[in-house]
Amino acid sequence: MYNFKFQNPTKIIFGKGMIAELAKEIPQGKRILITFGGGSVRNNGVYDQVKQALANHHTEEFWGIEPNPKYETLMQAVVLGRQKNIDFILAVGGGSVVDGSKFIAAAIPYEGEPWDLISKRIRVQTTVPLATVITLPATGSEMNCGAVISRKSTMEKLVLSTPLNYPKFSILDPEVTFSLPKGQIAAGLIDTFIHTMEQYLTFPVDAKLMDRWAEGILQTVIETAPRAMDIRPDYDTMANYMLTATMALNDFIAMGVPQDWATHMIGHEITAFAEITHGYTLAIVFPQLLRVMKDEKRDKILQYGARVWGITVGSVDERIEATIERTEGFFRSLGVKTKLSEYGVGEEIISKIVARFEMRGTVLGENKTVTPEKVEKILRMAL
Ligand code: NZQ
Ligand code: ZN
Repeated sequence: MYNFKFQNPTKIIFGKGMIAELAKEIPQGKRILITFGGGSVRNNGVYDQVKQALANHHTEEFWGIEPNPKYETLMQAVVLGRQKNIDFILAVGGGSVVDGSKFIAAAIPYEGEPWDLISKRIRVQTTVPLATVITLPATGSEMNCGAVISRKSTMEKLVLSTPLNYPKFSILDPEVTFSLPKGQIAAGLIDTFIHTMEQYLTFPVDAKLMDRWAEGILQTVIETAPRAMDIRPDYDTMANYMLTATMALNDFIAMGVPQDWATHMIGHEITAFAEITHGYTLAIVFPQLLRVMKDEKRDKILQYGARVWGITVGSVDERIEATIERTEGFFRSLGVKTKLSEYGVGEEIISKIVARFEMRGTVLGENKTVTPEKVEKILRMAL
C-alpha cells in the first residue's frame, strides 16, 4: 500500500426533507449567491424548498450554468458576485452547477485572469466558501474539491482542483432525483462506475480494504441500476444510488492506491470537441482502453471479473475478454451507446484529440504509458 494523506472536510446532510437544514447551516448575515442550471429545479420543487429555507437570509441568484459549464457563462456570475459583494455561494443543481460554482468561488477573489487558474495551474490562494444542494448523483463534486470547466472559444475542457473548494456542506435529498430523465440516471450510474474503476482497475498494491470497498461500490451500482432505471423508482433505490455516487469520488477509495484517470481525460476531450454527455464518453472509452491496456492491467481485470461478475473459467485471455464484454454490456443495458459512430462522431475527432495530447506532451494512466499513439488506438477501436 502507498503512503497517503487523507482529509475530507465536507459535511454531508442526507435524507428526505433535509433541504430545510439550509437555514441552520448558513450563518445569518451571509450575502449568498445561489447558482442554478437551466431550470429543472423550478419544476421539481427544489427551488421552492431552497427559497423557503433561506427566506430570512440575504440571497442573490444566478441562473443558466449549462451542462459542461462554460467559462464564458461563469464569468457573468463572477461579475455579479463581485458587484453584490457576496461572501457565500450555494450551488443548487448537478455536477455542472457545482463545478461551475467552484470556479466562481475561486475566480471572485482572484485579481488576475481567472482562466489562468486552470490553464496555467496557478495555485488558488483564497476562495469564497461554498455549499451545495446536489440534484444529480454522478460526479461526487458535492464531496470533492475538483471541477471541470469548459471554454467555448477554444473548445477546451480542463480540471481545476484546490483543497479550498471542498464544499462546507452538501445536502443530499434522494427525493430530488425522481425528476431526473433516464438518460441522466444512466450517465450518472456509469460515471459512478468509472470513478471507481479509475481508482481500482490499475495494478495490485495489496490494498485489501480499498479493493473490497471499490468492488462493493461496483456491485452496488450493478444491483441498483435496473431499479433506478425503472419508470417509478422507489426512495431507497435512489438513496442507495445517491450515496454510492458520492462515495465513488470523495477521496475515500483512493487511500494508498495508484490511480488511472485516462478514461476521464480522453472522455473530456470527446466532450470538448463533440459535446457528448460526460458519462457517455466514459462508456465509449473504457472498454477499449481495457483492451489496449490489458497486459498492464491483467491482474486487476481478472480480479474484477471474478469478484464482480463471477468470471472464473477459461484462459486468461478468455476471462479478460469476457469481463470487458460484460462491462460494455452493462453500459448498453442502461440504453447507453458505446461507439463514437453511434453519436454521429467520425474519425475526424481522433486526429484532433491526438494532436492536442501530442502538443501538450500528455501521457496518461497509472504508469503514464497511455501515450497519444495508444489514445489513437483506443479511439479507433471505439469508432
Ligand atoms: O440545468 P438543469 O435544468 O438543472 O438540468 C440538468 C442538466 O440539463 C439536469 N438535472 C440535474 N438535476 C436534475 C436534472 N433534471 C431533472 N431533475 C433533476 N434532479 O441534468 C442535466 C445534466 O446536468 P449536469 O450537472 O451537467 O450533469 P452531471 O451531474 O453529470 O455533471 C456533469 C459535469 O460534471 C463534470 C463533467 O465533466 C461534466 O462537466 N465532472 C465533475 C467531476 C468532479 N467535480 O469531481 C468529476 C466527474 O468525473 C466529471 O468530470
Ligand atoms: Zn466522471
